[in-house]
Amino acid sequence: MGARATKPRRGSLEGRARERGEASTATAARAAASDGSDSDEGPPPPPWVKRDDATVETEVNDPEAWINDALAGSAMGEALIRRCGVIAKKWADAMPKSTWLRITKSGRLVKEMRESAPVIVRTMAYVDAMAVPENRDEKCTIVDLCSGFGYLAMFLSELLPKEKVEEIVMVDKMWAMFGTEPKSHHINWAHVYGEGEWRYEWPIALSTRKVDLKDRAQVKQMANHLFSRWNGPFIVLGIHLCGILSIKAVEIFNRHSNVKQLILKPCCLPDFSWTYKEEYFEVGSHKHRIPTKEVCSRGKWKKNKWIGPPRHTLKVKFEAWNDHLCRSIDEEEGNVRSEVQEIKVQEKHFQNLFIFSEREVTRKCIAEEATGTRFPTPSGTEAGRWCPTGTGYGTHVKNSRQ
Ligand SMILES: C[S@@+](CC[C@H](N)C(=O)[O-])C[C@H]1O[C@@H](n2cnc3c(N)ncnc32)[C@H](O)[C@@H]1O
Repeated sequence: MGARATKPRRGSLEGRARERGEASTATAARAAASDGSDSDEGPPPPPWVKRDDATVETEVNDPEAWINDALAGSAMGEALIRRCGVIAKKWADAMPKSTWLRITKSGRLVKEMRESAPVIVRTMAYVDAMAVPENRDEKCTIVDLCSGFGYLAMFLSELLPKEKVEEIVMVDKMWAMFGTEPKSHHINWAHVYGEGEWRYEWPIALSTRKVDLKDRAQVKQMANHLFSRWNGPFIVLGIHLCGILSIKAVEIFNRHSNVKQLILKPCCLPDFSWTYKEEYFEVGSHKHRIPTKEVCSRGKWKKNKWIGPPRHTLKVKFEAWNDHLCRSIDEEEGNVRSEVQEIKVQEKHFQNLFIFSEREVTRKCIAEEATGTRFPTPSGTEAGRWCPTGTGYGTHVKNSRQ
């Protein structure tokens, strides 16, 4: 196992005081955002926010008030929450009602925003610290891994300065392929690309990329068609990544020399079945070994009931998991600093750990270096062609830079 020169530091609990100070008059949305518990009796953490009729009405009729109320006390701080409220109002005014309702109806927007608050704050600070690039090719690209619907990307598009950020790429296996019509099982992308005659002008271009992060060939294509295409810097975000998807995010950071920052918020632990197949997950060129028995867990939620070992035992595993992920990030002889920070975004759950990693000196990413593969690829795909299969269907969308 490669040794790390410095141990990751555990950070302070940003925003904890604010969380504790929340007014008791919080709306159902706000209360539900921190619903559930890690006790063995508690309900599972809902992937949505329960809403009463009054909340739904406010979402539709007064989005600004809704956001201000629902995000109050989050790590964003008042000024940023107010900006988000104004953004929500802008969307509600600009989008067809069907699109706006799709954005709000699952109740996920508020939950994701509360839990992504530290990510938004950090990303804004990273971009703030960047000089305005002279040339377009050196503008920052943000890659949101496992983006889901893309709430984080949508807010970042409105919040970040467009003179510094060229594009926000939402990567998820559930997007449709470029050039195809999304089917019902795909994430609906009308809010990204519009529907019918209607289009929304995102201040910073949003694009979708269908990638299964567990498919090595697809990840290599991303190196070829995305990371090695622009000088960077890139910022990679991985929020609520389940199981070994967190390892995939770390590998993406390790392999691409033009990724400046990684922010990773792991979600659930890898499944226990991994322990039957592997003794270790080995990550990074320093070959950091993560013992599967130390981090994999049995158990799942079934009809709101936890079937598995006592939940408190998972907390210890979750900390070990985050610690190992942090150690899996290659230090590059002092060029990369990484740390795990606990930031209380969920009141009663232990999934409050964030991994922040920063590469001091970045350099252009060479696809062959990042993938270990020479292009043309063994399958005969010609490097440099944006459409990897040659069939007319690529995994990503052409944008203004292509
Ligand atoms: C828990 S959600 C996270 C969504 C969002 N980032 C958030 O903060 O809530 C997990 C997302 O990961 C995507 N996903 C799951 N497995 C994947 C894989 N192998 N490759 C790419 N995306 C995957 C799912 O489609 C889903 O949108």
